Amino acid sequence: MNDAMDEEYETIMNSTSQQSYTTWAVIQGALIDPRETETKEQAIAHIDTLYESGIPFFTKRAIRAFSEQLKTQTTPGDKIITKDLTGARIEWKVKVGKSIDLIFGEDRENRKECVYKEPGVGYSSRSSLKKSLDWYGVVDSAYEPLCLMYRICQIDSGSKTKEIIPYKDTRDCDTVARDFREKIQAWEESETCRRFQSILSSEVSSHDIKKIVGLACGSLALPNNEHAAYQTALLVTVRKWLKERDQNEDIFCYMQDPMNTSVDREVLADIGFEMIDDPRGWLEIDERSVVLSVAPNVPVKEIIADTARPAIVIWNRVKNDDKDSTDPDSPRVRKMMTGYKLHEFGDEETWSDVVIYTRESKAAPIPRENGTFQDSPLGDE
Ligand SMILES: C[S@@+](CC[C@H](N)C(=O)[O-])C[C@H]1O[C@@H](n2cnc3c(N)ncnc32)[C@H](O)[C@@H]1O
Repeated sequence: MNDAMDEEYETIMNSTSQQSYTTWAVIQGALIDPRETETKEQAIAHIDTLYESGIPFFTKRAIRAFSEQLKTQTTPGDKIITKDLTGARIEWKVKVGKSIDLIFGEDRENRKECVYKEPGVGYSSRSSLKKSLDWYGVVDSAYEPLCLMYRICQIDSGSKTKEIIPYKDTRDCDTVARDFREKIQAWEESETCRRFQSILSSEVSSHDIKKIVGLACGSLALPNNEHAAYQTALLVTVRKWLKERDQNEDIFCYMQDPMNTSVDREVLADIGFEMIDDPRGWLEIDERSVVLSVAPNVPVKEIIADTARPAIVIWNRVKNDDKDSTDPDSPRVRKMMTGYKLHEFGDEETWSDVVIYTRESKAAPIPRENGTFQDSPLGDE
């Protein structure tokens, strides 16, 4: 599907992985409170100043408030209200059920009937807020890192009931479960898995850990799921290791990826993981968590740098630059990582530049009252 804008200038955006893609309509927010108009250059400087002042771009409080409104504001025309980084209120119109014709592929005549389905939260890092200024100018929501989106589904125009057409055929549960068991076995027999377990034993044997959160692993139910399978298998190893260490105490295990399907839900439940919807993952992650996130389409590192100090994070190596990416290594992320020790997988073929970071302090750092940390100087009070 081509990127396109509908008649009300909502952005149509594709979120892709090796296996599949999801299409989202990103809604434009409107200012409730008046604000002075700024030029693009002023807006860029403003975003940088806000960032450098330490104001968290993401807080659990704001994400929770957004999520609560998604549950109650469900009728077209309802509104969701957020507060941007300057304190100004923004409103987002609920548009669930809206239908739209979209162009698929290169053929501009090849229009398909689609509908706005479940709502979701969009997350903009500092760099994507600045990049958006190039695309849209200084719009009302220029200083708001959260936005409202709708998953777009194609509907079968020919059918009486206007059924939703799934993007890709997922495989049945037994096939997925069998395939995943084989991948777990291959992972568990690997030298990399043995090395990984010895890192756990030497580095976090007395860290207090109660949760495992897998973010953006992709779907096990789709074909060509190597990455999803290996990333999930590693989390299964963490769970087993913790269960053994803590003599079978409860460990809460979650997987969040909007691409997951009902087949994922079943297969994950069999291995003790609960499939959860965005934005619950961000709210669950805390100082007693292990987090894995590889090549996400959301700024996972920036969200976590503002909201938590997990015991272990497994994600792409944090580099010393702020290169444009969906998950940038911004200065706050780099600052957070100074409290962590880096360990290599030693297996670039499977894990590429993914590395393991263990938190240096065994004791969980205590967040401020507003959920932020000492190394981010200002809160959102
Ligand atoms: C490029 S894929 C990476 C998939 C997999 N980790 C890999 O290594 O191939 C990006 C993934 O981010 C997921 N994603 C997008 N928004 C997300 C969100 N809010 N929470 C969790 N995952 C998300 C997408 O659905 C997609 O599966």
